[in-house]
Amino acid sequence: MVCDNKEDEGNYTLKVMFSTERGIEPFLARSISGAGKVYPAPFSFKGRVLVEDISELSLLRLIYRNPLYHKAYIVMGNISISKERECLYDIYQRVLESHIFDILDFRLPFAVKTTRKGNHHFTSEDVSAYIGAAIIDGCRKRFGFRAPVDLKNPSIILSADVINDRFIWGVELIGYESMHKRRWHVFYHRAGIKTTLANAMLILGGYSPFSVLLDPMCGSGTIPIEAAHRCINLPAAYFRKEEFIFLKAGLFKDLWFDVVEEENRLIQWSKNCFIFASDRSSKSVQGALSNAKRALVSDKISFLNCDVKDLENSLLSKIDIIVTNPPYGIRMGGLNKAKESLISLFNAFEESCAKTLVIIHPNVPLVFEVLAKYSFVVDKKIEAYNGNLRVALLRLIKPF
Ligand SMILES: C[S@@+](CC[C@H](N)C(=O)[O-])C[C@H]1O[C@@H](n2cnc3c(N)ncnc32)[C@H](O)[C@@H]1O
Repeated sequence: MVCDNKEDEGNYTLKVMFSTERGIEPFLARSISGAGKVYPAPFSFKGRVLVEDISELSLLRLIYRNPLYHKAYIVMGNISISKERECLYDIYQRVLESHIFDILDFRLPFAVKTTRKGNHHFTSEDVSAYIGAAIIDGCRKRFGFRAPVDLKNPSIILSADVINDRFIWGVELIGYESMHKRRWHVFYHRAGIKTTLANAMLILGGYSPFSVLLDPMCGSGTIPIEAAHRCINLPAAYFRKEEFIFLKAGLFKDLWFDVVEEENRLIQWSKNCFIFASDRSSKSVQGALSNAKRALVSDKISFLNCDVKDLENSLLSKIDIIVTNPPYGIRMGGLNKAKESLISLFNAFEESCAKTLVIIHPNVPLVFEVLAKYSFVVDKKIEAYNGNLRVALLRLIKPF
């Protein structure tokens, strides 16, 4: 049992801090709402979702299945701090006095990773160094050995978040690499979106396994491939099941492989999906197909090499939802090209039977400028980030 000491009440619960793309917290929070008490953006920490009172089994299922999170750590402590350097001693003391030494075997190499937001008279490296020192001193005192540090290839990662006057820390479950990397990419598009954002867009569009979906600007295929995985119930970590750092740290080993086996039984390999993906670039379509093969869903998606302007009515008349990531005009083409792409896309939406179009775009004024000539309305706007780029997820619907 790995659990967190609920400081005030003296009883034991598992608390987990998830991270995701900023703006996507409400989607992640909703998707895990049954697993425990869920707090999106706790302590105003954007891109984080805190879950309390979650069982080990629910946590492992979530870690294997959920397509919306990037990383997760089991919370070991949560204290308020000042912005002065003196609080580094409080951090050191809290870690030293924690029960982490009963949970993990620090003969295994460890590393500490801190994320800091706000104004402080110390850096994230300082915080990591004090946590590391507490682990080394704690092990020496309790067990008489020096805990080895290995920043490149650790078996244990301790994660910490410092945001304004909060310090939260714990045991990392995922590793250094965010879960938005699914390991099915063999072809990367230079303007590709994260798989987590693609899932948020699909949820926003109301995609279900019964929907007929089109991504007419599919690039490397992120949106249709993630849709196909949703359709057949493929766990998001299917291609990463053996790489979790908690396995290297020796946690949950027996339970994990039972969970994986149980969840894999729910995959519907022979399910029909109704997913269409097209792009005017033949290189992108070839690349997306290679990705779909690697992702084991090439038979679930119909790929077409076609400009959105030339999509046939016979296809457009079948579509329920369009979810796509048009060019922003930042990395390629410029603003005029971005505008042209939006016009072609909106024309296709107008001609199609789709009731809903979801797009991701950084230039909302441009989208509204183009939109003015159409009768659709934006009924939902989510402000988010794709890495450091501010974007909006926009849901457009046709009038009745
Ligand atoms: C931002 S990228 C899409 C990236 C994709 N979501 C991914 O994750 O890889 C935009 C794509 O739109 C395609 N595109 C631009 N204008 C188009 C048009 N008029 N018809 C079809 N595809 C177009 C480009 O070739 C490019 O692959």
